[in-house]
Amino acid sequence: MNQITVSMTQYMKDHPRLKFIFFGGKGGVGKTVMAGAAALWAAKEGKKTLLASTNPVHSLSNLLEQDVFGKAATVCDEANCYAFEIDTKDTIERSKQEIREKINWFLKFADISTKADEFIESATMNPAFEESAMFENMTDLMLKDEYDFYVFDTAPTANARRLLGMSKVYSLWVEKMLKSRQEATSLRELLSFTKKKEKDPLMDYLLGFKDRMAKAQDLLTDDALTAFFFVTLPESLPIAVITRFINWFHEFGIPVGGVVVNGLIQKDQVGAETVEFVRNRVKMQEEHMAEIREIFGDRVRALIPLFETEVKGAKMLNRLVDRLFTA
Ligand SMILES: Nc1ncnc2c1ncn2[C@@H]1O[C@H](COP(=O)(O)OP(=O)(O)O)[C@@H](O)[C@H]1O
Ligand SMILES: [Mg+2]
Repeated sequence: MNQITVSMTQYMKDHPRLKFIFFGGKGGVGKTVMAGAAALWAAKEGKKTLLASTNPVHSLSNLLEQDVFGKAATVCDEANCYAFEIDTKDTIERSKQEIREKINWFLKFADISTKADEFIESATMNPAFEESAMFENMTDLMLKDEYDFYVFDTAPTANARRLLGMSKVYSLWVEKMLKSRQEATSLRELLSFTKKKEKDPLMDYLLGFKDRMAKAQDLLTDDALTAFFFVTLPESLPIAVITRFINWFHEFGIPVGGVVVNGLIQKDQVGAETVEFVRNRVKMQEEHMAEIREIFGDRVRALIPLFETEVKGAKMLNRLVDRLFTA
């Protein structure tokens, strides 16, 4: 009954060049643990692997029972496996500083005598700024290209979509900025008597930024290199969330690797003598499994049991690897 057409292992075999994988889904469904297991698996396959988190919560350090905050440390005694939890605060501070310099330069360039602080405040005091800083962080890692395989433990649902939609929004925004910058520059050149070409750091920055965004988008939309996996529990809300998610991703042209169903109560451990509460849960899970099969069909890659404890530390993580990557 629980047939899987193309397993996680088979998907990996069918995509030998795969390099960037992501785990998405509702909060608490098991994204972080799946990301950890996938990274460990890839490292065992001989790939130099980075498990990275763009999540402000210290979830990787918690999973691995070691501090990987703001640094790349090896994981579970696996020489090939590194984990890195991105320091959000640090990133945001750096981005703010960068923006401050750009704005100050621009105000000077445009002969505007307003204090830069107001501009900086309005540019950086919104949630999207934090997300875009994280997005840049992620793309920086991808473009640096220091590893063979990257596993990203993505931020909770609502952000992840924006995070990805962002690369398109960014391109549009940068195009617009570039256009107005070009107009301003040529106007300035027209008006100036000397006609000498000035160096334009803002323009340079925008061009560099646009280039990075375009490259990141190329990587993110290449189904030989990238795959997004969606984790769900056999429950209605997480299913609804990833259904919506998968549709969005199709819109963005971002490759969907498949669905991992987590938290299944093992039926062989449930009998007539089992407490009613558990028997009801099993029944509920069965109904939702039927729904999962109907919606996702052969895109289901793995069925993961509910373990007797949480997934934490090397031993549990290795148990999860065996379940996520069955033969
Ligand atoms: N199959 C499982 N069996 C038992 N506990 C699990 C299982 N999958 C996840 N967990 C636990 O559930 C909690 C949430 O998992 P996590 O990966 O942090 O979710 P997310 O990253 O999606 O928010 C963690 O405490 C984790 O150890
Ligand atoms: Mg998490």
